[in-house]
Amino acid sequence: MGYVGCVTAACLGKDGHSVIGVDVDADKVAEVNAGKAPISERGLDEVLQAQVASGRLRATSDAVLAVAESDIAMIAVGTPSADDGSVTIHILEAVVADIGKALRDNPKPYHLVIRSTLLPGILETRMKEVLEAALGRPLGDGVVLCNNPEFLREGSAVKDYYHPPYVLVGADSEADAAAVVDLYHAVEAERFVTDTRTASLVKYACNAFHAVKVTFANEIGSVAKSMGADGRKVMELVCEDTKLNISRAYMRPGFAFGGSCLPKDLRAINRFAEHEALRLNMLSSVLPSNESHLKRALKMIRDHGQKKVGLVGLSFKNGTDDLRESPMVDLVETLTGWGFSVKIYDPNVMVGRLRGRNLGYIDRHLPHLAQMLVTDPAALLEHAETVVLCTDVADEQDWRAAHAGKVFDLRSDLAVA
Ligand SMILES: NC(=O)c1ccc[n+]([C@@H]2O[C@H](COP(=O)([O-])OP(=O)(O)OC[C@H]3O[C@@H](n4cnc5c(N)ncnc54)[C@H](O)[C@@H]3O)[C@@H](O)[C@H]2O)c1
Repeated sequence: MGYVGCVTAACLGKDGHSVIGVDVDADKVAEVNAGKAPISERGLDEVLQAQVASGRLRATSDAVLAVAESDIAMIAVGTPSADDGSVTIHILEAVVADIGKALRDNPKPYHLVIRSTLLPGILETRMKEVLEAALGRPLGDGVVLCNNPEFLREGSAVKDYYHPPYVLVGADSEADAAAVVDLYHAVEAERFVTDTRTASLVKYACNAFHAVKVTFANEIGSVAKSMGADGRKVMELVCEDTKLNISRAYMRPGFAFGGSCLPKDLRAINRFAEHEALRLNMLSSVLPSNESHLKRALKMIRDHGQKKVGLVGLSFKNGTDDLRESPMVDLVETLTGWGFSVKIYDPNVMVGRLRGRNLGYIDRHLPHLAQMLVTDPAALLEHAETVVLCTDVADEQDWRAAHAGKVFDLRSDLAVA
């Protein structure tokens, strides 16, 4: 019956469900039963009062009774930060154990839905273990442990409940998720069912993204002020671009970025900030973060152990022959330095046609490029023990079907378990 629990309980009641709110805090239980919201939240008092008056919502501190009279438990206890930053789970463990014990004495199909924010892995290992110990049997027989992250914001929680970005349910199967999805029949939003780990991480990714957005805007604001520009206007115009900025563009985890503009322009902002003694903790960490993905890719290839590598895609993206600051050039440079024998397939790149700074860059970093480039995928496959797919040049053919050995795809292998 905290912020999430109270809003969820009142709105579920409003949508026709019969709801029992459970809390260890006797004052909160009494307040709910008196038709008063125990938290201050716009519009909640009215919804809660009406539901208590109608008999669809009541509260208790008796979890056993609540389990006996329900089919689904929506668990929304706190998961605060421990001193070391990790997720405190003992409150959730206690609740899951209480419900498990109640179900041991009263076996029936039941859904335990974790609405609290919880890192992936905790539900699937620790919570499952706690539940099975309390049940006295392995999960099954209609007892389902799943999750349903909450996206409401305090201050507009009731409105957000009815207009969430989407309804997200994490479960082992669509069938397990169905009862939870059905709870939201009155909510107009797209429904997504994923595995529980993905659902858990979506919530963390969203909150991290919100924090990153605020920090980004503040850092651009502080640079703008120092440069004599209007940071608010700058960010308004940044947001006007819904093609590349406020969009899916650049939001797919894969390999490091590169090219002739992004690294150069980030360096310029950071150099300016250093000169002005401005702290841009986020913007100054972008290039080192990018570099770490290059290192992860190198480690993955090195650890695999095979020294004959075929690389597909060398320019920083498909469709251009611009090799300046392409992370693939760094990749090849390091691999050859480690004694790997590398052949490269990239039809965008023809050494004889490279000009100006692009040619200068390659002369400095990969002077023997001409000997590494092959024009025919078959020649690459003939050479390679390991094939490394780097850019969408790889979409030309099915490399995994064509190559019997290891194929790494840097567009997904660094991000997908
Ligand atoms: N507050 C938000 O805006 C928000 C939004 C989305 C997700 N979340 C997540 O939802 C979860 C709950 O957050 P909150 O802000 O609602 O927390 P909260 O602290 O307001 O509420 C938690 C409630 O759980 C009760 N409780 C503690 N132990 C209990 C037990 N054994 N049995 C029954 N009740 C017990 C507490 O008395 C309290 O009323 C957290 O994981 C949080 O990260 C919060």
